[in-house]
Amino acid sequence: MARKSTILSCLIALTASQAFAIGETITISTEDVQLVYKVDDQNKLRQCYFGASLHDDAANVQMTKNDAFPSFGTSYVNEPALRAVHADGNTSTELAYVSHTTAEEADGVQHTEITLRDTYFPFDVVLCFNAYQKENVIEAWTVISHNEKKPVMLYNYASSHLFFSEPTYYLTQFYGEWADEMKMEEMQLTRGKKVLESKLGVRSNQHAHACFLLGLDAPAQEDAGRVLGGTLAWPGSWNLTFDVDNLENLHVICGINSFAGQYSLAKGEKFETPRMLYSYSEEGTGTITRNFHRWAKKYGIWRGDRTRTTLLNNWEATYFNFNEEVLSGIIKDASDMGFELFLLDDGWFGTKHPRNSDNAGLGDWQVNKAKLPHGLGFLVEEAAKNGIKFGIWLEPEMVNPASELYEKHPDWVITQPNRPLDLSRNQLILDLSNPKVQDFVYSVVDNTMTENPGIAYIKWDCNRFVTNSGSFYLPAEKQSHLWIEYVRGLLSVFERVRAKYPDVCIMLCSGGGGRIDYASLRYFDEFWISDNTDAYNRIFIQWGATYFFPSMALASHVSVVPNHITGRTVPLKFRFDVAMSAKLGMDLQPKDMSPEEKEFSKNAIQEYYGIREIVQHGDLYRLLSPYESVRTAMMYVSEDKKDAVVFTYLLDKVINGGNNQVLYLKGLDPEKRYRLNELNKAPNTYSWFTPLEGKSYTGAYLMEYGLRFPMYNQYESKIIRLTEE
Ligand code: DGJ
Repeated sequence: MARKSTILSCLIALTASQAFAIGETITISTEDVQLVYKVDDQNKLRQCYFGASLHDDAANVQMTKNDAFPSFGTSYVNEPALRAVHADGNTSTELAYVSHTTAEEADGVQHTEITLRDTYFPFDVVLCFNAYQKENVIEAWTVISHNEKKPVMLYNYASSHLFFSEPTYYLTQFYGEWADEMKMEEMQLTRGKKVLESKLGVRSNQHAHACFLLGLDAPAQEDAGRVLGGTLAWPGSWNLTFDVDNLENLHVICGINSFAGQYSLAKGEKFETPRMLYSYSEEGTGTITRNFHRWAKKYGIWRGDRTRTTLLNNWEATYFNFNEEVLSGIIKDASDMGFELFLLDDGWFGTKHPRNSDNAGLGDWQVNKAKLPHGLGFLVEEAAKNGIKFGIWLEPEMVNPASELYEKHPDWVITQPNRPLDLSRNQLILDLSNPKVQDFVYSVVDNTMTENPGIAYIKWDCNRFVTNSGSFYLPAEKQSHLWIEYVRGLLSVFERVRAKYPDVCIMLCSGGGGRIDYASLRYFDEFWISDNTDAYNRIFIQWGATYFFPSMALASHVSVVPNHITGRTVPLKFRFDVAMSAKLGMDLQPKDMSPEEKEFSKNAIQEYYGIREIVQHGDLYRLLSPYESVRTAMMYVSEDKKDAVVFTYLLDKVINGGNNQVLYLKGLDPEKRYRLNELNKAPNTYSWFTPLEGKSYTGAYLMEYGLRFPMYNQYESKIIRLTEE
């Protein structure tokens, strides 16, 4: 009887809304982009348009058959955005439009919710959107809930589904490995599915990044053509599926990777999927980049309006092998060179199991008195005495079996019972689905901060991914929830840390770029994109990362040569010129530098302060791609277009005549005159830029005729500052 009345009320609700909903147009609009849905005569929500803004004509687009959020069960679907098994075992879901609301959520952010309901079950999917007007970014996610008597099992639960109908599609994926992140590869999509995904759970961007560019009807270009860029805000397993169907339509389905992750949704529980971020442009990937950067600085990263600090990190300087004297020396040198902060990396903790290599101590966050007899407080003071700040490395989610923490809480780790422990970097992951573990992880940060007042910076590391995915905390029937509960637990810890420590600068690190996403970055000031600090490799890694993530947050460090990972030797100037194109830092032992190298570094750091505002807060324009040309170049332009800075690098020697590639500058004011000055000049070397030094030209000239000077040698580099006259 109760069931009948539920059905009846659903039917009444649907019939009532149907009467006035048919033909209804729902528009998700930014200043330049529109996504248009319509309700058809079957009360189904159809995606009818996605592209450049149609302004007031959005309602005039034609009805289509394109399901806005395809669910599995009653009709033919390619790849469903949603698949659920209902409380009574019914495997089908059929969603119909119920209602929608649109409101100004904050200044310049339009929030839309479209409620869809199953035509039989009291099962709702709310499609949610935030449309960031000026930044032309659309954030899409879903909220799933039901009122069925028993739990509903969710097997697929995407954040977003988009539909395209174009002659051709070109997908750029971002892939990599440890020390080899963010490489780019473009391919034409043909019939069938191309799936970009991670099943790693934690450190989930290690092999592929949850980011893509999609060229519509042409490969993606920098300054022309229709392109969609997307990235999923989720530090867990993810899936981006590109499905070209039998009629050559493209379905883009993005969200959590639901592989081995079916979710039992209780009555009344709201399941909110992560946010999928899109930016669309008809002027190529350059605009997408600038859209994401502007969005990130305002909404996506912690205090994106704040200028980031330069620092010296001791990781490559000492690894685990240091003491107070060594660190005091580095602190003094860091300060003398002009850095603003010293960051103490791994190896400072562990008593019973001292952290003298990566095989012990993780989890025991008490200072190792053998190395640091006066504790962290002493180093905070040393830094203060030298006029700089102090930062600390933590990896609070992890534990070595050789630790007091593991001895006490072996049931806190992620592992399958009755299977041998599967160690990676000699460590295990703490099970953040467990609230007690969440409290512990929070306390690691909180205790370190409260016991050592004055710490201004935290590097939050995470050095392995999930295998043996068992939780001692979750009940047997909810083991598949681990992937989601872990991330929820992690994000709630980030939230708590930020609530208490809003002013501390925090770096997101995961053995390099294994965890870079906008769900985490909401709480972080910056990220470590790669353990590979070789400036040559960094050009490619940073090139890829900055399509989605702003340079102000991308920590880039000068390190020693031969590089510890690649063995490559490049000039100190080249290393600085690359690091200065993002957020400058250093990762080496200053006492091993010659006086000339120290002097060069000192000057370079001061030069960085002169351009820091432009690099960190300006707009990025790509000029020459390292994937296409031996000479690569990019530039930043300040918002008022009064200042700009150009970076160019020669990746290989050009034997005959040098490289004369013209740099056609971008983003300048054609009317303004800009004076040119070379920064970071190589000592005792003739610069082929000299004929242009101090000269001034209009923005029009620099953009149309370009900047012309040759480069000859492998690893030659130049930084050119433009100042309005
Ligand atoms: C991995 C990080 O990416 C490195 O920078 C360093 O912090 C090590 N972990 C320390 O173990």
